[in-house]
Order: sequence, then structure tokens, then C-alpha cells
Amino acid sequence: MPKKIGVMVGRERSFPDAFIAEVNSRNEDIVAEYALLGGTIAAAPSEYDVIIDRISHEVPYYQAHLKHAALNGTVVINSPFWKLADDKFFGTALADKLGVAVPKTVALPSHSYIDDITGDSLSNLKFPIDWESILDYTGLPAYLKPHWGGGWKHIYKVNSLPELWHAYNQTSTLCMILQESIEWEQYVRCICIGKTHVLITNWDPRRPHHLRYDASKPLPLEPELEARVRKDVVTLCTALGYEMNTVEFAVRDGIPYAIDFMNTAPDFAKESIGDVYFEWVINTMADYAMECAREAPKKVTYRWDALL
Ligand SMILES: Nc1ncnc2c1ncn2[C@@H]1O[C@H](COP(=O)(O)OP(=O)(O)O)[C@@H](O)[C@H]1O
Ligand SMILES: [Mg+2]
Repeated sequence: MPKKIGVMVGRERSFPDAFIAEVNSRNEDIVAEYALLGGTIAAAPSEYDVIIDRISHEVPYYQAHLKHAALNGTVVINSPFWKLADDKFFGTALADKLGVAVPKTVALPSHSYIDDITGDSLSNLKFPIDWESILDYTGLPAYLKPHWGGGWKHIYKVNSLPELWHAYNQTSTLCMILQESIEWEQYVRCICIGKTHVLITNWDPRRPHHLRYDASKPLPLEPELEARVRKDVVTLCTALGYEMNTVEFAVRDGIPYAIDFMNTAPDFAKESIGDVYFEWVINTMADYAMECAREAPKKVTYRWDALL
């Protein structure tokens, strides 16, 4: 029986189609295909040795399926357990402990709550929030952004306390973090696969979304800075257990501050990342997923932390 790699995706096609074609063209005893699910029986193992998950954050049944597959020894990229547990605030504090530079960051109580939660339900919250001391810590300008989020949704750069309130008033039930803005001289985005394969891309957050990646010019990084960035990416992806991720740094005074490093289903569309980066992603992902397939099934001990 050949080993099997299943791919789970949303609307994207260029990445999964090219990945599947690449794996199948290598003529090893490993095949790749779109995974097909239609009800998961608790006692039955998964038919896949590896599943590359690009969409379960949007489809709860997929989460149930993937955790079950992991329990049965399937290598799921990325871990369905940790992916749901992780958040930007925890990640930032963890990065700090690992010696990776991060912006000063504060987690905030939400602006509002679901109907069943009233003032009486919130006995543990200090009220009102001491905004002045929070801003004393982060400084201005600052970024207000969700502690769990992506796709640049609810990202506010604020320059004053009234601007912060105005932004905060729009965040409803989200848990937000307030973060020192790193006023950068360089911005670096890295694609990381298999925790240790790092591609430093030329990516400019100031450009429109579809023009941000530009492989035509290499990103000029001082050798020392490049070495630090590579090391920090591996440190972060290893600690978080992500095998498919992008990691961003804002460089201020030569120091790379980690800004966003939990993009567990990064945009790999050919039209977004361009031919050169796309080819690297397809080849590196095929190499890595096939390595995982050869080693599967993953030995699982029945303590949930072993699954992470
Ligand atoms: N603390 C910060 N300092 C400087 N720029 C930031 C900071 N936080 C966010 N940004 C900018 O905002 C963008 C979106 O924030 P990010 O944390 O990546 O949110 P998302 O997960 O929605 O992509 C980043 O790519 C970066 O350009
Ligand atoms: Mg981001």
C-alpha cells in the first residue's frame, strides 16, 4: 500500500494542485490527493499518513476530524491541537522568554460581551481600565489587534488615547492586544516549512496585498541580521511546533522584532507569492511532507500534550 498525503483546503487551487502534482511526479511509493471526508467514525484510523491542513480554522468538523486523525498517528501539518490553543499574546510572551525581541504588549479585557454576560458576571475585572498606564508602557504610536486573528482584520494603528478609544470601541467581543509600534527601517517576512527550512522573502506591508511579495529584487540584509532572523524563525517555529508558517519581523535600529508568527495557513497562492517563491514552497513542502509520510504513523502516547 502506498503512503498517502491528503490536502485540505478552502478556495485556493494553485498551491494544492501544484503540491499534489509534485508529490505524484516523484514516483515514490507515496501519493497525494485532496482529502475527502464524509463523517468520521471514532474507532477507525485515518486513511492518510499525512494531512496538510489549510482550512480547519474555518470548518469545525475538519477540526474534529484532524484531532482524531492525529490521535491515530497521522502527521497533521499544522498540529490541530496547538493551532487552536495558540494566540498572539501567549506567542509574544513565549518569544520574549526564548530571547526573541518582541514589541511591548498588553492583553486587554474585551469591549463587550454576549448577551448572557452582565456586569455581575465580570467580578474579576478591574473597572475602568487604566488606559494611561497601559499607554505609558507601550508608548505611542501603538497597534491594537486581536489576540487571535489574521488577514489584517481589526488592525488599528493609533497615535493618541482618543484614537485608541475610537478603535477599541469597534472591537466588540474580540480579545485585543495593544502593542508598541515598531517604527521600522526594514520589514522582513519569512516562509518556514518543517520548522527549519527558512525562505527570507522580499515583502513590503505598505504595498497592496497582491503586490507585497517581490522576488525580483533580493532583500538586502546585513549578514549578522540575516543570521539572527534565520535563528529566530527556527526558534519560534520549533517552540510553537509549526511546520508551515510565516514569521514577520520589523527591524528597528538593527534589531528584528517578531510581529506576526502564527500564520498557520499562509497564503501560498502563486498569484500572491510569485513564481520564484512558489517553486520553493512546492518543492520544500513536497520534500517535507514526503519525509513525514515515510516516518508515519507517528507514535502517539495518550497524553494530550504529547500530541502537540
Ligand atoms: N507592533 C507592530 N509594529 C509595527 N508594525 C506592526 C505591528 N503590529 C502589526 N504591524 C503591521 O500590521 C500588519 C498586520 O498585523 P499582524 O499582526 O500581522 O496581523 P494579521 O495576523 O491580521 O496579519 C503587519 O504585517 C505589520 O505590517
Ligand atoms: Mg500578519
